[in-house]
Amino acid sequence: MKILVVGGGGREHAIIMKLAESPKVTELYCTPGNGGISRYAKCFDVKATDIVGVVALAKQLQPDLVVVAPDDPLVLGMVDALQAEGFKTFGPKANAAIIEGSKIFSKELMKKYHIPTGAYEVFTDSASAIDYIKQQNSYPTVIKADGLALGKGVILAKNEQEAIEAVTEMIDNKKFGESSARIVIEEFLTGPEVSVLSFTDGKTIIPMISSMDHKRALDNDEGLNTGGMGTIAPNPYYTEEIAQECMTKIFKPTIQAMEQEGRTFTGCLYFGLMLTEQGAKVIEYNCRFGDPETQVVLPLLDTDLVDIMLAIYNGTLAELPVTWKNQNSACVVMASGGYPVKYENNKLISGLDEKGQVKNAFVYHAGTKFEENQFLTAGGRVLGVTAVADTLEKALTQAYQTVKEINFEKMHYRHDIGQRALRAKQG
Ligand code: AMP
Ligand code: GLY
Repeated sequence: MKILVVGGGGREHAIIMKLAESPKVTELYCTPGNGGISRYAKCFDVKATDIVGVVALAKQLQPDLVVVAPDDPLVLGMVDALQAEGFKTFGPKANAAIIEGSKIFSKELMKKYHIPTGAYEVFTDSASAIDYIKQQNSYPTVIKADGLALGKGVILAKNEQEAIEAVTEMIDNKKFGESSARIVIEEFLTGPEVSVLSFTDGKTIIPMISSMDHKRALDNDEGLNTGGMGTIAPNPYYTEEIAQECMTKIFKPTIQAMEQEGRTFTGCLYFGLMLTEQGAKVIEYNCRFGDPETQVVLPLLDTDLVDIMLAIYNGTLAELPVTWKNQNSACVVMASGGYPVKYENNKLISGLDEKGQVKNAFVYHAGTKFEENQFLTAGGRVLGVTAVADTLEKALTQAYQTVKEINFEKMHYRHDIGQRALRAKQG
């Protein structure tokens, strides 16, 4: 099979390296890809959001399957456009991708179908939003732009001033354009966070191994929010009992709700969960694989990913046993100095072999380019170094040992990935 993957970050590299393990795969393509991906797949320079361009590329390459990985093309309808031309695809159509594309849609869906989530109100004008904030007078409070906002659309306001500022920025100053013309003000939830990605063909849902993201830039969860500085899997807070509760109260109800709304969801549905004292609640849905969750989850998958993707396309996921390695994985993200604010590119990366890898680890490239047989930095998050081992402790040790073998000027990474999970395990 020839497979085209749309996207160009660490998540896409993890998908591609997993697809490369399949005996069914003869050729891999990626657009736009990156330096590390180019060692596994032929890369093209069509942007991931360019629907017309990607359809044209597919017509030229004639792939047997197109995997659309990032949120924006899914929300914009890339899968619809590819299917209209007869291509097999992996990923939801636009009418289902709205579960991530509109926070108001997802909150209303959860309310209508009694899926546990934080209490909320929707606002379209700042005066009413500010009145509501003053009347609630409860902090922190959570302010979310309705639409996609490059992962920056959620503000946890610590006091009235921050809340008012967030509302004004979003609605009046159109910080995220149309995406923040409408906002959600939501109850602040506390508890351990768990990411659960799932495979679904719209009728059957198969949760993947759970994981834990580390979103802040610096050790001890200090510094700014980022796209994710590291992950571990499985997440020790996510017990078998909680998994069952989530299946009956959240996962199945969500796909049934989407089906009932005439918005059958197929692909990877991501549940961002908060394990509160009142049980698990949804803090967000994503219509795609998480980044960097994918970098710890897919290495644990035993079943052929191509078989899973085809079963989802054919609506036969119920007949496919999906199995996992009984191991642990850890991913440490190596970022450019200054990320997530301001950073420089084009730093030479040392320590990688000609495939961009290091022995005994998976080095997923997020922001690199490959020029004159060298890897150079080309983004804020540069590499995600994943190790798999029998225990979380060993996986972490191995990931950090590999990190030490790699170097580029001004690199920075967190030193405490997985520490909270280790403490949870020790009780
Ligand atoms: P997002 O940008 O949607 O990934 O959200 C960013 C982060 O905001 C989440 O991972 C949570 O840590 C936090 N968050 C979102 N909603 C809530 C909430 N209702 N209560 C507490 N934290 C939240
Ligand atoms: N790691 C969070 C996300 O992919 O949205």
